[in-house]
Formats: sequence, C-alpha cells, structure tokens
Amino acid sequence: MASVTFDKATRLYPGGTRPAVDQIELTVKDGEFLVLVGPSGCGKTTTLRMLAGLEEVNEGRILIGDRDVTAVPPKDRDIAMVFQNYALYPHMTVAENMGFALKIAGIHKTERAARVLEAAKLLDLEPYLDRKPKALSGGQRQRVAMGRAIVRKPEVFLMDEPLSNLDAKLRVATRTQIASLQRRLGVTTVYVTHDQVEAMTMGDRVAVLKDGLLQQVDTPRALYERPANVFVAGFIGSPAMNLMKLKIVAGGVQFGNTTIKVDSAVLGKTKDKQVTVGLRPEDLIVTKNEGIAVHVNIVEELGADAFLYGTAEIEGEKVDVIARVGSKSSLRLGDKVYLKPQGGITHIFDIASGLRLNNDAPKAAKAVADKPAAKKPAAKKAAPKAAAKPVVKKAAPKAAAKPAVKKAAPKK
Ligand SMILES: Nc1ncnc2c1ncn2[C@@H]1O[C@H](COP(=O)(O)OP(=O)(O)O)[C@@H](O)[C@H]1O
Ligand SMILES: [Mg+2]
Repeated sequence: MASVTFDKATRLYPGGTRPAVDQIELTVKDGEFLVLVGPSGCGKTTTLRMLAGLEEVNEGRILIGDRDVTAVPPKDRDIAMVFQNYALYPHMTVAENMGFALKIAGIHKTERAARVLEAAKLLDLEPYLDRKPKALSGGQRQRVAMGRAIVRKPEVFLMDEPLSNLDAKLRVATRTQIASLQRRLGVTTVYVTHDQVEAMTMGDRVAVLKDGLLQQVDTPRALYERPANVFVAGFIGSPAMNLMKLKIVAGGVQFGNTTIKVDSAVLGKTKDKQVTVGLRPEDLIVTKNEGIAVHVNIVEELGADAFLYGTAEIEGEKVDVIARVGSKSSLRLGDKVYLKPQGGITHIFDIASGLRLNNDAPKAAKAVADKPAAKKPAAKKAAPKAAAKPVVKKAAPKAAAKPAVKKAAPKK
C-alpha cells in the first residue's frame, strides 16, 4: 500500500491555451478512498491518467509513497485502473477475463487461479467463473471489470466513472459494494465521478475540481457544512444550496423583511456592499410573514420529503428559491409564502472572489432536534460509513512479479 501525491502536477495538452489540470496539489493517504469530482471537462480523467502514467506531466511531480514516478512508465507504477468503458473480452470466460493480465505478466497458472478465485469470492462472482460476458448482467460485468483490477493486487486503484454504464438503481447498489470492498482491501483508491451524490456517499474525502483547478479537498461532511467557495457550495448537495446576493445592514444581511445575523468581523472582510449568502433548502422554514416573500412554482413530493421550488424578489431581482417543506405540506402552485432561515448554517461568500468569509462551526443540536424527519445527507451517511470504516489489511502477500498496466483505453 502507498500514499499518492500530486505535487503541483500540471497537464497542458499540445495546442491547448490553458492547462487541463493546473498545478494540482493533493495527497491521498495510504488506504484512503479519495473521490475526484467535478463537472464534465474539468480534468478528472486527465488527473487519473497522469497518475497512471498514460498522460505526460508538463510541470510538477507525482509520487507514489516516497517514490517520484513522474518519469516512470505505466507498467512499473503498480497501479490498476478500471475505466468507464471496461470492455471485457467476449470470447473469454469470466475467469479468463479476470486472469488475463496475470497471464500476460507470466504468473503461474496455479497462482493465477488462486487469485482469480479469491477476487471472485470477494465480488460474488464465483458461480459465474465459467460464463462468457454475454451471459452476465450489467452489474456482474462491472464486477468482472473490478475483478480484473483486484487480482493484480496493485498499490493503487484508479477508477474512472466505473458505474456510468449501469442503470440508476444498480449504480446505487454497486457504489455501496465498491466502497465496502475498497475498505476491506484497504488499497489506496482514486475514484473519479461527475456525480456529487456518488462522491459524497463513497469517499473518505472528496476533491472538487473545476476548470483544471482544485477547489477543495475534505470529508463529505466538511464539504457540505463548510464549502470553501461559491462553486463548491452550489455543486455539493441536492437540491442545490440557495445562493443569493444580500445587502449588508447593521448586524447582518437583509433577508426580505428580516435580518440574518452575521458577525461584523465576517462582513468586514468584504469590500462590497453585498455578500453572497448560501442557505441550504433544509435550513429554510415556511413562515406566515417573516423573511422573504416567495411565489410557489411547484412542490416536489418525494415521499419522506417535499421540496418547494419558488421565486422571490430580492433587491429588485427575481431569484429561484428551494426549501424543504414537510411531506404533508399543503402548498400549491401560486401560493405565496414567506421563508426564513431556521438556525442552520448560513454560508457567507465574497461576491468578487467567491471565497467563503465565515468559518462558523456548524450548529449541530438545535436545528436537528426541531425537525426529527429532517436528516441532512451528510448525517445520513455517517452511520453506515463509520461501521464500514475499519480497514482490513490485504491478507495475501504481494507477488514479486508486477503485472503491467494495460495499454491506455481509448478516451471518450
Ligand atoms: N487528448 C487530449 N487532447 C487535447 N485536449 C484534451 C485531451 N483530453 C482531454 N482534453 C481536454 O482537457 C480537458 C479535461 O478533460 P478530461 O480530463 O477528460 O475531463 P473530465 O474527465 O473531467 O471530463 C477538457 O477540456 C478536454 O477537452
Ligand atoms: Mg472523464
């Protein structure tokens, strides 16, 4: 096992005007499950490919453990990658598919069979070892692709959107399996996705990337509770955080007919007369006449929860607002309600830089106690996560011969 360090690693594609990945600085701890998340085109795949040795690093370094691998060829990096398009060999059985890289690496048949069986047991693939891929479900094929990586017993797993070929329901089931498998194996893993829910539910820590620039790296909960800038604030969380430009007034910011209290030291950090204020949908409550007046556009019923989507007028501008309302809410299209913060976290950002200005510790107890049904996504995942935490070290000793990293899969 090993840590992974990106030391100002930069990739500028030939002919590009700005780097696809710009001076990324990131350390993935030994055994950690790190998720790299960001919108399409932000440089996630490029980052992974630099780590795998499939993409040149134009500036900076990449280390695996203490070893500078920046100039080390892919096959000598001891990395296994699961790609988005994990094409299996159709003419080979599951066992042959899984053992193929080991065969190429010249590993003896007996050892190969043992490793394939071990991986098949981990992945619940034992009954299918003699089947061809076409006789497998999508989820089983995906697990065979995982199996191909696992049998190699690499120091680092790289996964590039490995669930994107699965339907929504299977994706949810499989992400849980991958996360718990990673914890059992304890292999340092860098996992790429554009899906923030996947990132939040799977990662020990999540690194948010935008336009090739690393925005923030932290635990899912910390990203949720203290996004470092407006981008992370809007990207993490579903439905998204409400971000509104509010006027600075005595003691805080103007929110409709009320004032949200904000420390003057926080507001003193901006040169503007306004700040961007972030309020999560679950931190707003419906009131009779306090806060901002909101015209209800739609109420989305999700069973346990319901979300109000409305429009408010703030400082003369129409603004979309989302609030979580009780599932028994009787609100309808066209209703007029008032919304105000209910004592959750108020996120304050500088308008010019987009950077967070306040560093309040989250107020845990009160808001949660008031609303028993209202669990935050971050809190929801805390329990199973903690239980899955103990990392069981890989049992089998590492084989001396390191199989080669397979040739680069075609980029999408
Ligand atoms: N081989 C390439 N040559 C030139 N530009 C590329 C190449 N691969 C990716 N890019 C560009 O680099 C940026 C990051 O791409 P990529 O790492 O694939 O993003 P992501 O995986 O986050 O969607 C994009 O603007 C993309 O168009
Ligand atoms: Mg990609």
